[in-house]
Amino acid sequence: MTATLVKGSQYNRLPLTGSIEVPGDKSLSHRVVLFTALASGCSHVRGLLDSLDVRSTIAAVETLGAQVELKAQRGRLSGTISGPMIAGAGVQIDCGNSGTTTRLLLGLLSGRQLEATLTGDESLSRRPMRRVTEPLSSMGAVFSPMDHLPITVQGRATLRAIDYHSPIASAQVKSAILLAGLSAEGTTSVSEPHKSRDHTESLLPAFGIDVHVDGLKVSIEGGKELSPCDCDVPGDPSSAAFLLVAAALLPQSKVTVTNMALNPTRIGFLTVMRRMGANVEIRINERNTLGQETVGDVTLSWREGLIATTVTADEIPALIDEVPILALLATAASGSTRFECVGELRVKESDRLSAIVEGLTALGCSVAVDGDDLIVNYGPPLYSEHETLVLDSRGDHRLAMTWIVAARAFAIDIDIPGILCCDISYPGFIADLMSLSQQ
Ligand code: S3P
Repeated sequence: MTATLVKGSQYNRLPLTGSIEVPGDKSLSHRVVLFTALASGCSHVRGLLDSLDVRSTIAAVETLGAQVELKAQRGRLSGTISGPMIAGAGVQIDCGNSGTTTRLLLGLLSGRQLEATLTGDESLSRRPMRRVTEPLSSMGAVFSPMDHLPITVQGRATLRAIDYHSPIASAQVKSAILLAGLSAEGTTSVSEPHKSRDHTESLLPAFGIDVHVDGLKVSIEGGKELSPCDCDVPGDPSSAAFLLVAAALLPQSKVTVTNMALNPTRIGFLTVMRRMGANVEIRINERNTLGQETVGDVTLSWREGLIATTVTADEIPALIDEVPILALLATAASGSTRFECVGELRVKESDRLSAIVEGLTALGCSVAVDGDDLIVNYGPPLYSEHETLVLDSRGDHRLAMTWIVAARAFAIDIDIPGILCCDISYPGFIADLMSLSQQ
């Protein structure tokens, strides 16, 4: 294997077998870093994801005055984080590639009496920010400009509470407003059209903050301080999805992912895989929890005869980051699989909708976009011993990992420029995938 070439052909579609623990959950890691840094006192943390995105959040809270003492061990960070953050004026924060760092910080900084400028890489600088700056402006923060990074935010020690109806189901938007709500006078509420991941509302009570959830509406009372909380971050289901889908595509495979976050707002992909005929077994570990988060083990045993399904708009937020890898799975499911209302994919780390179409088409699959729906027809990628395909990662970690799985599952040699971007969410992904080939 050269730096970017994945020689899937050399594995000849051999099964994946064994048990593995994937790195810590990215969404939980961001929140654990931010919440422990907000709390007055020292929190012990274990299992934080040691990836580029989470390091952006860690660097941000350090710039803002939190004391961070973490040691890296096998892709995980453990140690202490002590708050509260006490930054002076004129702070510069580089958010790298991370949308979660940016949008959650814009919310948090809105409620601080300081001026800060947030920057990001080329991909992040293209991503829409008005979805958070608009509601946060109505709470009293001032942003310049409103749409894209670099953005300078002028926060206020006390904000106005709002009752915001978000037009999109986005955990980043919801979390930004709730974090600003901590500094507002009165009750701040956010409602969304479909339920997005609920880590912010599930973790804040562990830090002593009451959160009221009523269906699709979440409310928080302003003026409360966070208390320190010891946190043990479980494995990331979005990372596990790549290994579990690979196992579902390779005959005779049996893979178990241990100590994985099982929050229902994150494991929609398992529900969809089951509906497609995959054999998925979930065991909850009652003793291991983080706040209100469930943790456990997931086993995927390969089974013949996957069938197509329709993934409805209501189901999308619970699997939004898994659409690229589920689209690859859908090429092996008889019939036509439809992912409804996935327009949000256009504004992720890259335009994932066009990238899925381009990549799967290059692999010889039949795929189309109908408005905001993605349609994948049966017809798995074809194996050719003599060809090397080039599929650009577009610098997008979830695309790079999808094409790596395509190479391994369909025994194709694929050259993936920018493959190192896997480190954004899953450092060591190729080594983990290949280790399951040898057990
Ligand atoms: C995230 C929320 C999702 C997801 C992203 C992480 C989070 O984004 O795609 O990878 O941690 O809150 P949106 O909230 O924009 O859907």
